[in-house]
Amino acid sequence: MTDTPLFKVNGISKFYGTRTGCRDVSFELYPGEVLAIVGESGSGKTTLLNCISTRLTPTAGSVEYRMRDGAFRDLYRMGEAERRMLMRTDWGFVHQNPADGLRMTVSAGANAGERLMAVGERHYGRIRATASDWLERVEIGTDRIDDQPRTFSGGMRQRLQIARNLITGPRLVFMDEPTGGLDVSVQARLLDLVRSLVNDLGLAVVIVTHDLAVARLLSHRMMVMKEGRVIETGLTDRVLDDPREPYTQLLVSSILQV
Ligand SMILES: Nc1ncnc2c1ncn2[C@@H]1O[C@H](COP(=O)(O)OP(=O)(O)O)[C@@H](O)[C@H]1O
Ligand SMILES: [Mg+2]
Repeated sequence: MTDTPLFKVNGISKFYGTRTGCRDVSFELYPGEVLAIVGESGSGKTTLLNCISTRLTPTAGSVEYRMRDGAFRDLYRMGEAERRMLMRTDWGFVHQNPADGLRMTVSAGANAGERLMAVGERHYGRIRATASDWLERVEIGTDRIDDQPRTFSGGMRQRLQIARNLITGPRLVFMDEPTGGLDVSVQARLLDLVRSLVNDLGLAVVIVTHDLAVARLLSHRMMVMKEGRVIETGLTDRVLDDPREPYTQLLVSSILQV
């Protein structure tokens, strides 16, 4: 990790009419750092993730990103084309439902290779070779390269979505409950895979999860949300082993009882 943040979130709030999505959230993320956003359903995790990844316009606040040239840019003052380029190259977004992040009726190879074209790769043979390499990295047999993800299991779809996101060498990946819809045994395998990829590639990750075991396994730091606000933040082991806020204590103990 370097001492310059990659990402700075300043006072983000999002209101849906009179309803609070999230309120006054600020944090910084460093290169290679994995931050988990935890909290019960409805606490504002997805709203926050969507606001900081420009998928949703916040009501207030700003988000700055350190571009590859080293300069910080305010995401909401950037042109739409530049923002889209960033999302397709330097960033990844892994959806809970793989169908939201994949094209279900084009081949696995095309799903993986598509983003390479966004960074200017035109050579079919190279795109296919890199796609095939990435299918292997996410443990999808290369004999499935021409199959459509609608023929894949849930776990395979999620692994394909991860390959599609990582193929362009992003620096920052957002994940919203990436193991949410999967069987427990499939979840464990996926988490292992995500953990080793994140380590190997030195990715910065913001991961939303309601599952504290996922936060424990993957993250360095955690933010606990309640009713749209961040109520506790700290190193993951500290928050889980020695929660300070009564609400966090409740979250941790209710998990330990199951
Ligand atoms: N599109 C929307 N319109 C109105 N209210 C919304 C919308 N999306 C989320 N909310 C509300 O914002 C709050 C936070 O929701 P959300 O960010 O989805 O939480 P989480 O991801 O933690 O379950 C909830 O009260 C939810 O009902
Ligand atoms: Mg959510």
